[in-house]
Amino acid sequence: MAETTDNLMEKIISLAKRRGFVFPGSEIYGGLANSWDYGPYGAQLKKNIKDHWWKFFVESRDDMVGLDAAIIMNPKVWEASGHVGNFADYAIECRDCNNRIRVDHYLNAEKNEEFTKQVTTANEILDGTSEKRIEADSLINKVHEEIKDFFNKETSCPTCGKKNWTVPKMFSLMLQTALGSTRDSEVLAYLRPETAQAMFVDFAMIQQTSRKKLPFGVAQIGKAFRNEITPGNFIFRTREFEQMEIEYFFNPEKTKWEEKFDELKQDMEAWMKAVGIDPAKTHAVDIPDGERAHYSKRTIDFEFDYPFGQKELFGLAYRGDYDMEQHEKASGQELRYLDPETNEKVLPHVIEPSLGVDRAMLAILLSAFEEQKLEGDDVRTVLHLKPAIAPVQVAIFPLLKNKPELVAKAREVYDMLRQSFRVEFDDNGNVGKRYRRQDEIGTPYCITIDFDTLGENKELEGTVTVRDRDS
Ligand code: GAP
Repeated sequence: MAETTDNLMEKIISLAKRRGFVFPGSEIYGGLANSWDYGPYGAQLKKNIKDHWWKFFVESRDDMVGLDAAIIMNPKVWEASGHVGNFADYAIECRDCNNRIRVDHYLNAEKNEEFTKQVTTANEILDGTSEKRIEADSLINKVHEEIKDFFNKETSCPTCGKKNWTVPKMFSLMLQTALGSTRDSEVLAYLRPETAQAMFVDFAMIQQTSRKKLPFGVAQIGKAFRNEITPGNFIFRTREFEQMEIEYFFNPEKTKWEEKFDELKQDMEAWMKAVGIDPAKTHAVDIPDGERAHYSKRTIDFEFDYPFGQKELFGLAYRGDYDMEQHEKASGQELRYLDPETNEKVLPHVIEPSLGVDRAMLAILLSAFEEQKLEGDDVRTVLHLKPAIAPVQVAIFPLLKNKPELVAKAREVYDMLRQSFRVEFDDNGNVGKRYRRQDEIGTPYCITIDFDTLGENKELEGTVTVRDRDS
């Protein structure tokens, strides 16, 4: 239904600002690059997306429970999970304009794999001796020089057009902060880069208090932070964002991971459809060996056709028992599940559906957006949002604002409906303009109270005019 245009992103950003979905952050101080604030309709839409997800995956199921953990965790969590050591991207910098780009975004899959393999081989020869350190360093320097030469031959800087690159450098994606009331007592801490880890760390307490038997999932919604090298494309990639994640725990002796993986994939697809993410623009892509995250045995990325290309929307990963094993080892605490049938202890394996709230909202807006060309140069802009997630479900208008009896009746209808729906009262301008405004914020139904409602035409007394956005 939605129409694709070359400048679709600009139209979405402009609509989002004009109608109060998303504003540039800190705008009165000149803004802060890639920071966005969700305005009145955006905050409501985002909440509706999260509530819908929670109802779908937690409240409607017997095999899911929730968690709301702290954003700042003990730094040992991030050492054990491998994030402190591994959660980094290679970037390369333009000597002319200092623009930084991610190396993996500019290499094809084959070259990326070759590069990763060479770095891994170099690291594998390390055995703690200074000879091996020197040998590894010289290998890594050689790889870095090759990458630099490759970029200086093949890749112009997307900002200034020059080919004058530095050697690549690793940049940690972990956003740091310092805890402590005095400078001397400051302790380095991290803002979580994913919500996932708390669900592993708290597994034993969650299982004992919820009395769930394997298999079951733990769900969490919350903010995550990453020091991204190349944030951008509106709310697609930011340094502060929100995730909706599930860690689904199971006994690998009793549950086939392939079957659970497929089930969760289907659940994710059903949810995407329910919130109005266009299935024709969504692609499930199996991520090959060498390109998956360090913990993953299989990953499917759900990619979406954004105006800036086909890119990741959500992910589904089989994390095995990597995280549980790491945390058991590092904490010295047992995280095993006592199987009541066999009386044996098992370390659960995990499948993880991971969804970005901000990306969900972007995909929903892009799927819902339509511009209809009407007579003359008139254009009707509509967001075909699903009623379940639309910020306003019903708008109520008195036909004229200067007729107190119409306004009173409209208020009565408004007060009645607000018990069950998200409603908005609007008496500004003419009804045609009010419809157009509601179209742009995605309101599925508008109700007008006119003189017929009040009994001017006896046959229609007590009736209202309901306008359906899509018909
Ligand atoms: N726990 C697994 C995990 O975090 P991920 O693929 O790195 O996996 C999961 O992130 C999802 O979070 C992504 O599919 C995307 O929807 C969202 N996401 C990740 N980084 C993001 C960023 N910088 N800005 C906005 N959303 C992001």
